[in-house]
This record gives sequence, C-alpha cells and structure tokens, in this order.
Amino acid sequence: MNFEGSNRLRPRYHELIPGGAHTYAKGDDQYPEGMAPILVRGEGCRVWDVDGNEFIEYGSGLRAVSLGHAWPSVLSAVHRQLELGTNYVRPARIELECAESFLEVVPGAEMVKFCKDGSDAVSGAVKLARAHTGRDMVAVCRNHPFFAVDDWFIGSTAMPAGIPASTRSLTVQFDYNDLDSLEALFDGNPDQIAAVVLEAEKYTPPAPGWFEGIRRLCDRNGAVFILDEMITGFRWHLGGAQARYDIRPDLSTFGKAMANGFSVSALAGRRELMQLGGLDHDRERVFLLSTTHGAETHGLAAAIATMKVYREAPVIETLWARGERLATGLRTAAADTGVGDHVPILGPPCCLVFGSRDAEGNPSQPFRTLLMQELIERGVLATSLVVSYSHSESDIDRTIGIFGEAFEVYARALEDGVDRHLKGRSVKPAIRPYA
Ligand SMILES: Cc1ncc(COP(=O)(O)O)c(C=O)c1O
Repeated sequence: MNFEGSNRLRPRYHELIPGGAHTYAKGDDQYPEGMAPILVRGEGCRVWDVDGNEFIEYGSGLRAVSLGHAWPSVLSAVHRQLELGTNYVRPARIELECAESFLEVVPGAEMVKFCKDGSDAVSGAVKLARAHTGRDMVAVCRNHPFFAVDDWFIGSTAMPAGIPASTRSLTVQFDYNDLDSLEALFDGNPDQIAAVVLEAEKYTPPAPGWFEGIRRLCDRNGAVFILDEMITGFRWHLGGAQARYDIRPDLSTFGKAMANGFSVSALAGRRELMQLGGLDHDRERVFLLSTTHGAETHGLAAAIATMKVYREAPVIETLWARGERLATGLRTAAADTGVGDHVPILGPPCCLVFGSRDAEGNPSQPFRTLLMQELIERGVLATSLVVSYSHSESDIDRTIGIFGEAFEVYARALEDGVDRHLKGRSVKPAIRPYA
C-alpha cells in the first residue's frame, strides 16, 4: 500500500494544527510511522484515503458513526433541515421533537439538554451536581480513561499542564467494582464529594451489586450519581447501559452514537437537578450549557433520524451479533497462530478492543504498532474493534482473515523480536506528559 499523498501532507497538518489533528486519539502518533492515512471519503464501514487506498474501518468517528458513514435516511433528514435553516434567534420546533424522541428511549430521564460534545454534557452534569450539593469535590472512576476535556477531569490525567493545583485537588479516584474504594473516599472527605462519575462498563463486567452499591453510597452521603453513557449509549441497549443493567443514576450523559457522527450530545436526568438550569424554581440559577450552536437544527435532525433507525431496525442486536462473530473468529485465529495470550479480545461484543502483549505477557505499544502495521497494509484500519451496523458478516470474515495473517507476523515477532518487523517508531498513549 502506498501512503505518499498522506505522508506529503503530514508536515503541513502539523504546521497549521497543534498535534496535526483535532482529536488526540486521531493523531499520527496513534498509527504506525508513515502509515497514517488522511481520509477523504467514507461509506458504510469503508473509508478511502488521499492515495486511493480503501480500508474496512473500525471505531468510526471515535465510535460515533454507529450506523455507518453517509447513512441515507440520516443524510436525507439533514438535507431537509439544511434547507430550512440551521440556527434561529428563538428555539426551533425540532428541539422539542428531539427531546421527545430522546426521552422516549432513555427511561430514567425526565429532562434533557442537548449540546455538541460529550465533554460539555459531562461537565454540565458535574456543575449541576456541585450547585445542587454545594460541594466541590468529584469522585471519578480511575479505570475509565476519559470523561471530558475540561480541567476538573484532565487535571487528574497524565497531562495536567495548565490546570491549577487547586482544581486538581478536587478530583479524587476510586476503582471499578470496588465499593470499598468509593466508600473510603466518602469517609476520607465527609460532606465534600458532590458527584460520583463513571461509565457503566469497560472491559470488566459489573460485579453483582455494584450499581446498587453506588446508588446506596451516593444516597447515604448526599452525592449525585452521574453515569457517562457516551460509549454505552445506543450500543449496550436502546435505552443505554442503564436500561440493560437497571442502573438508577441521577444524571446521565450521551453523545457519540446518538447522531451517527453529527455533533450532538445530551445531558439528561432527574427533574429536580436538571431544572436548576431552568426558570421554574426559587434556588440560585445554574448557567447550564448555553451555547450559540447547542441546538443546531441539522444536528438534531440527524439525532432524530438516527434514533428512528435504532427503534425500527435491529441495530443493537446486530452490533452485538457482529461483534460476537468478530470476537469468536479473532480468538480462534489468535489461538491457531499461537498468539491467543498475547492479543486478548476485550469488552462486550458491541464495543470490542484488542490488547497487545509482548513475549513476557506485558502490555506492549511496539507490538500494538506491529499489529496495526500489518492490518493497515492489508486494508483494515482499526485502533479498536468497534463495529457499526454497516459491518456485514462478510466484512467481519474478511477482517478475521486479515487478522489471521497479521497474527502470523506477530507470532514470528514474539520469537525473534518486534524490532525486526517494525517499519518505524512505536505508537504511544494519546494522553502523556511529553511528546
Ligand atoms: C466515556 C466518554 N465520556 C466523555 C467523552 C467526551 O466526549 P467528546 O469527545 O464528544 O467531548 C468521551 C470521548 O471519547 C468518552 O469516551
């Protein structure tokens, strides 16, 4: 495969855009050297780059493109709305339509406010929790890698530059499935924790009683339970992971799969909290998610059309079934080539990822790079294994075949050293303190 065009453009990206991309997770440093395609087109589960290379893509739009690129009914809804204008001086009728569509599918929520990015929604939830409780501290799950671009969260990561120590000290961490670790935070910081923030599930399933335990601890300590459904929403279940696992959060946040790649996110939850951002109460008002583009009409049209597909077609079941087929095939191929212990396939079928371990069984970025190098070379673009509704069985089977070939190279590298097989430098974690 030839990446001449992408490689020619790369320096210009870095000259004009810090990091050469608008999301760190899309950066060149996340891909094998000289093999980071610059894309021009997507259709279904396929994308094409400036050199004309075609790839089967996984995790499209950082998991936002859940139906597939350029999904016809979503595009028609957007086109229709574009003709009517995208932003008025007063609320558009479509804002109410979208709120009704959303609240029909998310059972626990009584009110919703739309915004453009997931970070806005999660940070809005944290602000509501702080205002409601009159407290400053936030407890976040240490095993979940991302909640928001804002200081309250980024201050707790490996990249806290520019964030005051006073802000950083307000965010504390607990472990997933470990109620004692959460209880210890409440005990160590009495009447100070405003909110508990976590995703429903990553690669480890929730332990029995985990969510009930969080609910109990939040109630006992007067804290707000915030469930971040940015990834689980519209994948685990039509009503989110909260519907699948019967979770009772106070606030929950959605985005990504909500509008098939268009920029729409949502903060939803109990009226008592949400209405602090409104006018129907006597408490001090909260400045909640008020932005120029927050209710851009064509984004909401995309969300309504996307949610309609979820309701009318077997999207969620298909994501799980295709993921299951992929996981089973990859595990078999990995075992057949002797790399089963080195390339674990992790997560629920609707949202899979692959691990990469070296000969000693330690997580290895060079081995991840090698796997991606061999996959890209053969036409699979995958930093994750997250399927969309457009991945057909034959796309999955083709992917398994390509992985099988890549696994053979991986097995040889386990024997004779990864450096002999790598064509360039290794990838690095996206959130790190130095380049
Ligand atoms: C769980 C989770 N929450 C929040 C966010 C932030 O969403 P956005 O990138 O749309 O701001 C992300 C983004 O990856 C996420 O994975």
